[in-house]
Amino acid sequence: MIRAATPDDPLRIAVLASGTGSNLASLLERLDDTVSIVGVASNRADAIALRRAQDADIETAIFPRSEDWAVRDRALRAWLVERRVELVVLAGFLELLTTELVDHLPVINVHPSLLPAFPGLKAWQQALDAGATETGVTVHFVDAGLDTGPIIAQEPVPIREGDDAAALHLRIQAVEHLLLPDVVRRLAANQVSAPAGVPA
Ligand code: GRF
Repeated sequence: MIRAATPDDPLRIAVLASGTGSNLASLLERLDDTVSIVGVASNRADAIALRRAQDADIETAIFPRSEDWAVRDRALRAWLVERRVELVVLAGFLELLTTELVDHLPVINVHPSLLPAFPGLKAWQQALDAGATETGVTVHFVDAGLDTGPIIAQEPVPIREGDDAAALHLRIQAVEHLLLPDVVRRLAANQVSAPAGVPA
């Protein structure tokens, strides 16, 4: 699906983020010149991720939640297509996307659990509440469901005795910061085969 990119013709990606953007920061730090982040968009005007993008001279945009999510996603898709984005990376984008977007462009997401366990918000807290001894990180293709798309890569994170939500989330994020750039690099090297249904 995604072509083998080169420094002369890097893979054009956009990052969508709602929050602090530590995953965006790790992408900025770890991606090589086969990948170019051409835009960062958020559903929240106050997302710190937007400031990080501006500091890195990357174009930003805000697409707030509208009553009709399909309308929001059509506008977002037009913005992505105008910028010739080839891959959309969700890095803490805390809203579902509709088929208006995910049926037209390849989208990946980083999720803080070993899916299919603990989909949805605050997955680290869900793992603690369930008394799990292990959780982890998943990077997956995105469909219109809640963290349901085909899995690309997973990495376990042990839950230690005495872990609270903050400590566990921090350890999970350290793994996210390595796994997400690694998957993007592999996609740009055409080393990930996309299952049927993922748009080219
Ligand atoms: C990450 O833990 C991600 O897995 C979850 O939201 C968090 C975003 O963190 N979906 P950041 O904004 O990248 O710091």
